Amino acid sequence: MLDEALQKKLIEEGRRFTRGAMEDDPYEEEFESDQERRLPQPPLCKAPVRPQEEWIRLPRDFEALPMAKPGLLETIRDRRSARVYTQEEMTVEQLAFLLWATQGVKGLRGKSYATLRTVPCGGARHEFETYLLVKNVTGLAAGIYHYLPLEHALEFLGAVENMDTAITAAMSGQSWCAKANVVFLWSMVPYRAEWRYGIYAHRIALIDAGHVGQNLYLACTGLGLGTCGIGAFDDAVCTELLGLDGGEEYIVYSAPVGTVREKDKAAEQAFYKFVEDEGL
Ligand SMILES: Cc1cc2nc3c(=O)[nH]c(=O)nc-3n(C[C@H](O)[C@H](O)[C@H](O)COP(=O)(O)O)c2cc1C
Repeated sequence: MLDEALQKKLIEEGRRFTRGAMEDDPYEEEFESDQERRLPQPPLCKAPVRPQEEWIRLPRDFEALPMAKPGLLETIRDRRSARVYTQEEMTVEQLAFLLWATQGVKGLRGKSYATLRTVPCGGARHEFETYLLVKNVTGLAAGIYHYLPLEHALEFLGAVENMDTAITAAMSGQSWCAKANVVFLWSMVPYRAEWRYGIYAHRIALIDAGHVGQNLYLACTGLGLGTCGIGAFDDAVCTELLGLDGGEEYIVYSAPVGTVREKDKAAEQAFYKFVEDEGL
């Protein structure tokens, strides 16, 4: 076994790597990416090594492909990041589906050894907790909620004085998020994964988080709602808002969910043009 102190140090490094930018990060202010330094961007894909004539061209038309689960093609194809929300009604049934799709428990493995859920997860450790900033969901008071996956229930953690301001601050100033009906915040309880994977837990956990996010995207697409993965949340604000300890549990990913209209795709496109023009 590794020296105990070294093992602890490596675990700490892994935890730090999985966290958002932290207040005491000595490099946060000064670090400049190559994009910020206006250096040319790398190629979008690796160049082929074989001549064109040798490529195996693949079909793109999947309409005729027999599907065991109808609707899958459209759901995957129509998934997109939506940042323009219409602030219409969202129901608790819709929210329940999104919670189930992202972290819902389908069964137990062994004598409570592991939960089997709607998302895959390395070693079925399911090291995440789901918190919600509910703003506009019929039948639910606005405020902070925590999802109980085993019971498929919500517990109310408290009201928030000014939800718009709180959401904008939690999302590092991305004020469009405050028009969402609800914001998902996923925390990680690192030890749940470290118990099994030790210093490799953090790498696995970030892969796991991707599955959770994608299931939210697909479930929203299925319901006709919009979402957008958010990596640029504010670690300190989220930690304080949710009353987390920031060491044994911290936020790793988030996503607003809101009602959308098809025609707002134009606004989305305008957003992307803005991002490109500004070099963001
Ligand atoms: C891990 C992750 C973090 C992201 N963080 C942000 C974010 O902070 N703000 C934002 O506007 N979009 C964010 N996005 C959305 C991406 O910009 C978006 O997925 C990408 O531009 C491709 O667009 P599409 O999802 O519509 O295909 C994030 C997406 C992922 C997967």
